[in-house]
Amino acid sequence: MAKKLFVRTYGCQMNVYDSARMADVLAPLGYAPADTPEAADMVILNTCHIREKASEKTFSELGRLNLLKQERRAAGADMTIAVAGCVAQAEGSEILARAPYVDIVVGPQSYHQLPELVARVARAGGRALATDFPVEPKFDHLPEDGAAPGPQAFLSVQEGCDKFCTFCVVPYTRGAEYSRPVAAIVAEAERLVRRGAIEITLLGQNVNAFHGEGPDGTSWGLGRLIWRLAEIDGIERLRYTTSHPADLDDALIEAHRDVPQLMPFLHLPVQSGSNRILSAMNRRHTAIDYLNLIDRLRRARPDIALSSDFIVGFPGETEADVAATLDLAERVGFAQAYSFKYSPRPGTPAASMENQVREDEKATRLDRLHEVLERQQLAFNRQSVGRTLDVLVERPGRKPGQLIGRTPYLQAIHFDGPSRLIGRTLAVEVDSAYGISLGGRAALAAEAAA
Ligand code: SAH
Ligand code: SF4
Ligand code: F3S
Repeated sequence: MAKKLFVRTYGCQMNVYDSARMADVLAPLGYAPADTPEAADMVILNTCHIREKASEKTFSELGRLNLLKQERRAAGADMTIAVAGCVAQAEGSEILARAPYVDIVVGPQSYHQLPELVARVARAGGRALATDFPVEPKFDHLPEDGAAPGPQAFLSVQEGCDKFCTFCVVPYTRGAEYSRPVAAIVAEAERLVRRGAIEITLLGQNVNAFHGEGPDGTSWGLGRLIWRLAEIDGIERLRYTTSHPADLDDALIEAHRDVPQLMPFLHLPVQSGSNRILSAMNRRHTAIDYLNLIDRLRRARPDIALSSDFIVGFPGETEADVAATLDLAERVGFAQAYSFKYSPRPGTPAASMENQVREDEKATRLDRLHEVLERQQLAFNRQSVGRTLDVLVERPGRKPGQLIGRTPYLQAIHFDGPSRLIGRTLAVEVDSAYGISLGGRAALAAEAAA
């Protein structure tokens, strides 16, 4: 009998990729996608542990799912609840203790075992926990075929992190850095293209630390991998995320100069503009190192749009440190950026540092940084007005007849057009700029003639 699976995804794009792969892994067991938890026989929460707020969502959502499960049981049926992702990895046994209605807890490196775990629970009626870091990478055990990705696809090429920034849980939840072999990545990219993808975003917690084994037996960096992927017919756009400044090498900068499919956009988290704080964060770069990298990138690809992550209120951060961060932002001029209040995470070195910053102070600092970054994003969007940009059409917009796509610079843009254009790239003239998006007019006459 057909069963239904609902996966709710929190956190980063690697979780989005993993959620799709979990659905692929369970498809042979007869699980088809459900649109809501209410319609599902099994619900997976793919969770994020990065900040306190993110991981709290797990338990509030689990509470809601429990109510659903009890209703189901009262009606003589049942529902399987699984927790996956980084909270599962970090708090596996605590979840089983706190939430007795959870059937399965599976970490980000173990989800290829899901069929086995589901079968075990169904057979024995017990509960299953899989949070070891297996010796064999899960990628070797994932099915080759999966659901159609749509025009925009994610492809994990690297996972885990050895950087141990003092604020961050990722090295603990995702484990040690691992790069997939080039041949496996190329094969997966070719399958994605055959199933309709024209843009591929290469993913890794630390994607530019990629050092996968090449077909020639040597270790390849990300720049070389991008060259190889650009040879695949049908890939119109390549992106990658997230990068670390210390791993941005010459080959990658040259790829930005020379590979036309590589989009002129880079998300390069800096976290702070203060050397003292960067050092306490164990970031392995200074503010000047970062600015020099930006200079080199802009020399290689003058129109490259830059994005970043910032943390304010790291332990010991002073007014002078905040000023240094605002100054760095002013010097770079970001096209977009994310900024967060520092959130102490259990088990990380920064959580036990003295001189933690007061919450209200963090909030004020975040407001000040937001103000600068929002102004920069609006300025960046405004300078697009009047230009004609290639847009990859992703989905229908909110208003009837409207479409939404992405420019090469990852700006969201809405414009009127028929839904048959979804999944294609076309020229759109930008006619308006907003805080986080653009409006435009598609060059449809040209498209119809072509
Ligand atoms: N691997 C990426 C990002 C990982 S997490 C990198 O190295 O940049 C995404 C972002 O969350 C980080 O860049 C950081 O800005 C933020 N972040 C991570 N831990 C945090 C914490 N404890 N408190 C607040 N923000 C945090
Ligand atoms: Fe976390 Fe730092 Fe690794 Fe990024 S580089 S995942 S911030 S430890
Ligand atoms: Fe969150 Fe894990 Fe990604 S903590 S940001 S889901 S790597």
